[in-house]
Amino acid sequence: MRSENQPPADALVLFGATGDLAKRKLFPSLYSMEAHGQLKLHVVGVARSDWTDDSFREHARASVLAARPNADPVILARFLERLDLIQGDYSDPATWKSLADTLDEHHSQCAVFYMAIPPDMFPAVATALASVHLNERGRIVVEKPFGRDLQSAVELNEILHQVFPEERIFRIDHYLGKESVEDLLVFRFSNTLLEPLWNRSYVRSVQITMSETIGVEGRGSFYDGVGAMRDVLQNHLLQVAALVAMEPPVGPESSYLQDEKAKVFAAMRPIEPACLVRGQYVGFRDEPGVRPDSDTETYVAARLQIDSWRWAGVPWYVRCGKALAANASEVVVEFHEPPRMLFDEAGGPTPERNLVRFRLGNNDGVTFTLQAKTPGEALDSQNVDVAVDFAAALGERRDAYERLIGDALQGSPRRFAREDIVELTWRVVQPALDHPGPVHPYFRGTWGPSESIHCLDGDEWFLPST
Ligand code: BG6
Repeated sequence: MRSENQPPADALVLFGATGDLAKRKLFPSLYSMEAHGQLKLHVVGVARSDWTDDSFREHARASVLAARPNADPVILARFLERLDLIQGDYSDPATWKSLADTLDEHHSQCAVFYMAIPPDMFPAVATALASVHLNERGRIVVEKPFGRDLQSAVELNEILHQVFPEERIFRIDHYLGKESVEDLLVFRFSNTLLEPLWNRSYVRSVQITMSETIGVEGRGSFYDGVGAMRDVLQNHLLQVAALVAMEPPVGPESSYLQDEKAKVFAAMRPIEPACLVRGQYVGFRDEPGVRPDSDTETYVAARLQIDSWRWAGVPWYVRCGKALAANASEVVVEFHEPPRMLFDEAGGPTPERNLVRFRLGNNDGVTFTLQAKTPGEALDSQNVDVAVDFAAALGERRDAYERLIGDALQGSPRRFAREDIVELTWRVVQPALDHPGPVHPYFRGTWGPSESIHCLDGDEWFLPST
């Protein structure tokens, strides 16, 4: 047995505590952890701007209430009591001394350092932590995107490894914290009826869609420097693909799961630029913070291929984009069409292909599209959906960030991305970054540029269920 869990943390340090991620995701999730009795430590915010303890707590209160309007005032007050602020410039050694002193005052032996800051600041912050020996008593959580390409990801790994060993670097991808995404693994391997069919002999294609109706929502300058390939394709979409494609891990420890994912990415061909289509919604260039001549993609579609025994020859189509027609995150596994039924009369409809559709967004669940006899004299069939809605069937589940912060505090690396996996995913995306091709305009509220059909080898995109 490999044992990989680490000691639980006794303090949480938030870098970027006054930033957008902390506001939208981290404070609401921490409040929920408090409500569930899972937050039993001090939360120390570090911020550069001119904040006081009071203004920081007020900011945290407002962030919680914006996301959880019915927050319990007693629980909220208890949560706010846990907050401390270290205010100072990241380049000033006094800031780091003050952070170390604060952790000493709390008798902290093991802290989680959460980097909710722009990626170009990760190396400086990690090095500054080492300057006051805080790297010796804690682990870091690093937000995505981890690097900008393969080379920068390798360099970033090297820099972080000078300060933290690999097992104490937690690379976050919030999709891995979603119950619906984790369910891909459980659903596949705990339902005997699926596994014998889950291969190139029976599966014709796999489509993965992540579509959002929102545009860049005030994140124009960040997004313009990143684009859809770096924002979600390299991480969320490829992680989802790995869970659908992988072999079962041989044990429950994190490294067995990561090993199987690594094999999928090692067998995945780098994206061929000819199988890539980029789009940009009309109006993106007018968004605040976006360059007027930007050719950053807000949409990307690509064909992936996995040269494994299980998947050779099966096309994996992936697409993601902003300002599209609907909010949907889903995986559709399409099976080969059945043979024509010999006992049916000539001229009747050919049975359609079966689909298994995993819905990963807010309406998460699974839909099987099967064939059933059309009422009447003929022995024809038609599509029927057998669907389950997980919230209705299984009850509400915890938010992804809440689960992942809980994992980081507990020292469980299973739902985080290992070094080799991040590098292997960049290797897959690298040719698309090097040879991105033109960016095709599309109108808001559509399914992206019509050119996206060129990725599909004569197939069609399935309309996501919304
Ligand atoms: C983030 C991206 O990682 O995921 C955002 O940076 C995107 O651009 C978000 O909107 C989508 O997450 P979810 O959980 O709403 O599907």
